[in-house]
Amino acid sequence: MKAIVYTTYGSPDVLKLKEVEKPTPKDDEVLINVHAASVNAADLHYLRADPFLLRLDSGLLKPKNTILGADIAGRVEAAGRNVKQLQSGDEVFGDISGCGWGGFAEYVCAREDALALKPANISFEEAAAVPMAAVTALQGLRNKGQIQPGQKVLINGASGGVGTFAVQIAKAFGAEVTAVCSTRNLDMVRSIGADHVIDYTQADFTKNGQHYYLILAANGYHPILAYKRALSPRGMYVMSGGSTAQMFQAMLLGPWISMTGSKKMGNLLAKPNQKDLAFMKELLEAGKVTPVIDRCYPLSEVAEAIRYFEEGHAKGKVVITLEDNNKTL
Ligand SMILES: NC(=O)c1ccc[n+]([C@@H]2O[C@H](COP(=O)([O-])OP(=O)(O)OC[C@H]3O[C@@H](n4cnc5c(N)ncnc54)[C@H](OP(=O)(O)O)[C@@H]3O)[C@@H](O)[C@H]2O)c1
Repeated sequence: MKAIVYTTYGSPDVLKLKEVEKPTPKDDEVLINVHAASVNAADLHYLRADPFLLRLDSGLLKPKNTILGADIAGRVEAAGRNVKQLQSGDEVFGDISGCGWGGFAEYVCAREDALALKPANISFEEAAAVPMAAVTALQGLRNKGQIQPGQKVLINGASGGVGTFAVQIAKAFGAEVTAVCSTRNLDMVRSIGADHVIDYTQADFTKNGQHYYLILAANGYHPILAYKRALSPRGMYVMSGGSTAQMFQAMLLGPWISMTGSKKMGNLLAKPNQKDLAFMKELLEAGKVTPVIDRCYPLSEVAEAIRYFEEGHAKGKVVITLEDNNKTL
């Protein structure tokens, strides 16, 4: 089968389209014919081994898993003998970063607990856009942020992968949502349900005197003390990603601010979760959430897709489609 392989850490240049052996499912795994995958910041972190400590998990000198790709959607082709929930022919989607990665390939094996049945009303491309970004947004807003109906919620980085899901999930929970993005994305974030929009190129929401009960920052974008200023009393700030300095601020200053005052601040470590995936399936089937896809790239152009994602201005998700995966190397 064809796969995008990397045997050394580095830039997207180290990603190569190769012919590799088709995997065989273990007893608790299914073999999936991948129809689409999507790019996440996690692919980039594991590609570059950045931060360096990631190597403790991914391999000290070279990557243990040589095929990236966490988010997939496809069709089950075979099932191991202990698999109970899925069978051959099922259309599935999921985040397989917890069970070996390998989504940037024509076939991959994954444990069934990383997967859910694909929502019937969306395409494979749309389904592949969902798992990691949507579950991160869900866990940030619901688990960490304790989102409630009627709350004033602000999403910073509302136009990216995590942000576009966060806006829609917050609306599904009945919140009053303010979305922060750049000028070119204002109409898009309005179209997915934002009640208010702030153009970060024109205004700084941390200085306009408005306060929010819950702020989810897809990336840090501002120092933690600026977010503190924008929180209402007993408000909560959740940071999903950001620069190393912003991560350290959230990890070190966040707990101290939370202990010494009424405002709670911290970062999020989202984990793939089958129940959360099933929850997202319901929202998607109910039409409460629709994936926003910026661009689709063929499998052979994964490196290009990651380069584009790395620029940091994708409008929603960057998707890999395997429709043309029969072309010769
Ligand atoms: N904690 C976890 O477990 C977890 C899980 C998944 C992801 N993450 C993290 O979540 C972060 C976001 O991921 P993502 O996939 O959403 O990233 P992304 O899609 O690359 O985000 C890009 C978006 O960010 C917007 N943006 C750029 N600069 C901005 C600024 N100064 N203010 C507001 N928005 C700005 C861009 O809008 P414009 O083009 O309009 O500038 C673009 O729409 C990453 O750091 C990732 O590592 C964390």
